Amino acid sequence: MIYPVTVFGDPVLRKKAEPVTKDFQDLKGFIQNMFETMYNSDGVGLAAPQVGQAVRLFILDTTTTEEDGLTGIKKTFINPEIIEKSGDEWVLNEGCLSLPEIREDVLRPETVKIKYLDEDLNPYEETYSGFTSRVIQHEYDHLEGIMFVDYLTPLKRRILKSKLTAITKGKVLPKYRIKIPGK
Ligand code: NI
Repeated sequence: MIYPVTVFGDPVLRKKAEPVTKDFQDLKGFIQNMFETMYNSDGVGLAAPQVGQAVRLFILDTTTTEEDGLTGIKKTFINPEIIEKSGDEWVLNEGCLSLPEIREDVLRPETVKIKYLDEDLNPYEETYSGFTSRVIQHEYDHLEGIMFVDYLTPLKRRILKSKLTAITKGKVLPKYRIKIPGK
């Protein structure tokens, strides 16, 4: 099942997400639907608040996008905790399914060390670099209520203001279904 994607202006994207508990109904079905939703919209990552659930879970698939000899991953991160960010910051032009038609340069550190549970609730602690580290940091931000436009300078945000307002009103036409804030 493909979920509609929540977009900028939806309060669920600004909440600090709650941990996933054992009571979560059909966790595996939810994760499968998230993957379907992500592939349907050509995303490389998707966080639960982007499908309207303020829980600490995100997925990613960077298997076709990693370069520089790094291997991409296809994984589910449940109740993740970033333990350490390190390395030089580098710029990448980022996009987000919740910010249709916007792409902006964002600086993030190279490496991330993260603790999480997989879909069977097995614990892991791993370190990632490159594009996968970038996507992890972007998706993790969604669980903290942070979106990449928050990192832009006030000037850049002012330039984007009309675009952001258009998204809030649902006046965008991505090729995937969105949930218009407040509707
Ligand atoms: Ni995003």
